[in-house]
Amino acid sequence: MEKAERRNQTIIMEFILLGFGNGPELQPLLFLLFLVIYLVTVAGNILVVLLIVTDKHLHTPMYYLLGNLSWLETCLISTLLPKLLASLLTGDRTISVKGCMVQLYFFGIMSTAESLLLTAMSYDRYLAICQPLRYPVLMNGRVCCQLVAGSWMSSLTTCTTGMVLLLQSTFCRSGEIDHFFCDFSPMLELSCDDSQTLKLLTFIIAIMWTLVPCLLTLASYTCIISNILKIPSTSGRKKAFSTCSSHLIMLTIFYVTVTTVYMVPTANTPKILSKVFSVFYTVLTPLLNPIVYCLRNKEVNESLKKLIFKLVAF
Ligand SMILES: *[C@@H]1O[C@H](CO)[C@@H](O)[C@H](O)[C@H]1NC(C)=O
Repeated sequence: MEKAERRNQTIIMEFILLGFGNGPELQPLLFLLFLVIYLVTVAGNILVVLLIVTDKHLHTPMYYLLGNLSWLETCLISTLLPKLLASLLTGDRTISVKGCMVQLYFFGIMSTAESLLLTAMSYDRYLAICQPLRYPVLMNGRVCCQLVAGSWMSSLTTCTTGMVLLLQSTFCRSGEIDHFFCDFSPMLELSCDDSQTLKLLTFIIAIMWTLVPCLLTLASYTCIISNILKIPSTSGRKKAFSTCSSHLIMLTIFYVTVTTVYMVPTANTPKILSKVFSVFYTVLTPLLNPIVYCLRNKEVNESLKKLIFKLVAF
């Protein structure tokens, strides 16, 4: 019975990304908003990468990791926003199934790598503050390289596996995705195969690459903060805290929103809320990252000032 039903349904070649509602007067406004966000994000992150690459003072593991994160965030936002901007501009919301898969694949790789890189960054801060004497041995250029390469390799392997499994499903329900980009769970909802295994697998992957890094980060920061509180002088405490407070701000935004989107059962959260939270970790974290670091971090701040002086003198 079910089989016959399935054969009757036409197989879908195109999805419609519903985005943010139907109001035609809202679309130009959203277009402008996301265009500005996109340009500022890309410019800001590239600026951070340039500062780190060109300034010798910033050639340390902590800033190498930050540079890699900025680069990653430029790529992450570039997998999502250009398509969204195009559909807001033209009003054409369709995306081919293949295009959707490609977007999902790259988005998956970037966001998993981001989660792992953030963990590597908190591990670096943990070593610097809780194991200061052993820091030069435990964290150096080589270890940093391994952490970066490890993050990329793990996310590449995981996402490729997930993609191979997803490619085997066919989509035959109405092709409307109530989201602003092709994310895994909204896509799975449209699959006409039994997606139970795939759902379970996603959940396990999400736990492995989001919850575990999140807990490791939490453990690092518990240790960091308790160590900072032990510092007797106020100025010493302030200095130690200022190196990791920017990182802590970014971490909180990223993990709180990611866990809300992926861990909390979707049936209970209103769609609009999950979209807004998605905007937070896909768009807002990359936007805030360079701002937080340039404004709050003394060394990056100094480096930026030097660059501006040089440009003015030039
Ligand atoms: C990324 O990390 C590697 C390895 O530590 C480093 O050599 C490279 O300069 C970093 N990239 C950026 C843009 O900071």
